[in-house]
Amino acid sequence: MRSRTGADATASSEEEEREDAESPPVRRLADWSAGRVEELAAEYDTPLYAIDLDRVRENYARFAAAFPDATVMYAAKAHTGRAVLSALVDIGAPIECAAWGELDRAIDAGADPDELQYTAVNPPDRDLDYAVSLAAEYPGLTITGGARDTLDRLAERGYEGRLAIRINPGIGTGHHEKVATGADAKFGIPYEEGPAVAERARKDFDLVGLHAHVGSGVLDDDLEDHCRAISRVGEMAKRVASGGSLEFVDVGGGYGVPYRPDEEPLDLEKVSDGVREALSGVDARLRLEPGRYVLADAGLVLTEVNTRKETPETTVIGVDASLGTLIRPAMFDSYHPIENVSAPDREREAVSVGGPMCTSADVFATDRPIARPERGDVLAIGNAGAYGYELASQFHSQPRPAEVALEGGEARVVRRRESLADVTRVEQ
Ligand SMILES: Cc1ncc(COP(=O)(O)O)c(C=O)c1O
Repeated sequence: MRSRTGADATASSEEEEREDAESPPVRRLADWSAGRVEELAAEYDTPLYAIDLDRVRENYARFAAAFPDATVMYAAKAHTGRAVLSALVDIGAPIECAAWGELDRAIDAGADPDELQYTAVNPPDRDLDYAVSLAAEYPGLTITGGARDTLDRLAERGYEGRLAIRINPGIGTGHHEKVATGADAKFGIPYEEGPAVAERARKDFDLVGLHAHVGSGVLDDDLEDHCRAISRVGEMAKRVASGGSLEFVDVGGGYGVPYRPDEEPLDLEKVSDGVREALSGVDARLRLEPGRYVLADAGLVLTEVNTRKETPETTVIGVDASLGTLIRPAMFDSYHPIENVSAPDREREAVSVGGPMCTSADVFATDRPIARPERGDVLAIGNAGAYGYELASQFHSQPRPAEVALEGGEARVVRRRESLADVTRVEQ
């Protein structure tokens, strides 16, 4: 895999400066227009998701530009809304799916089924049935299996198509232990079983690739471990290639974005060089599956302050969004930037922001400095584009929020606010 020469470097740094200006590698909450955001809340009510499709396309293009000789698939699980999927399909992004529903929604959004990749993790029968029947019509579809049982269940269904084997590299990285999948036995074939499973796979399937997903939310500090895990996959690819060539090595996703103000964005050139280095000598095309990097900083949650309560411990700011709207803080202790877009210039004070759910987990921030929030103010929660709406729930019978998409400065509703009837729709 080729790295950059001197001449390339100079030309490209001017080019990069221009690209950075056009599409900055990081978008902070302060980079959104507070006035525009407040207008959205006034027009579409709260809690509300806002997703900037122009930013989604920029992020994908920037990432793909850092890997010019690779296939960059968008990991649909990060945000599976049709507007987002269509925006990415329109610019040629192939889609990686982790469930039958994601396959169906990707196709509904215009994705070419022959370019889809389905990553099967302990797959329910209906998912395998759907993927196998889809592959019968679209033989370009690729299925990734991470267990001998999955391969057997595919063979039992008469599947003989394109298969990638997910390997467990034994090294995990990421923003939280719950996403460090590379070291979790749940994911992938145990490393040393790789060659034997590949040999078995070649008997029943068209073995086209190896796959691993090391973890999620990788920033500079995790890069070394991330590349160490990838080099393990590279080693396995060389061992497996002795039995026949591989079309690709897929290193998954995991590329993080800065959530905290003091965090720096990933240097994609450094990532790209590191991944190439880790796969040096591997004669196969590189595939990657970013999700978070493409969506995270393109989305916001807007929420209205309905309670201000000063207590001896802290000042509690109650809002209408909850862990049912954005679960990441409760699930992963994740940090999301929060700003008062109604009165951004008011004196800042340390407050705790929580939602209407009857659990202490329903907190977005504790002792967080924010411009003094008052009842009726709108707060913006940043970096909510990835693993936001897709993880929303109807806990407390709270309908899921609406979602508006921004494109070329225009806003339109792409997911309407649920009603109570939507909450009870399946009641028998
Ligand atoms: C197999 C696989 N690919 C890609 C991704 C996307 O990861 P990220 O959103 O961190 O880029 C995930 C996330 O869980 C995954 O499990």
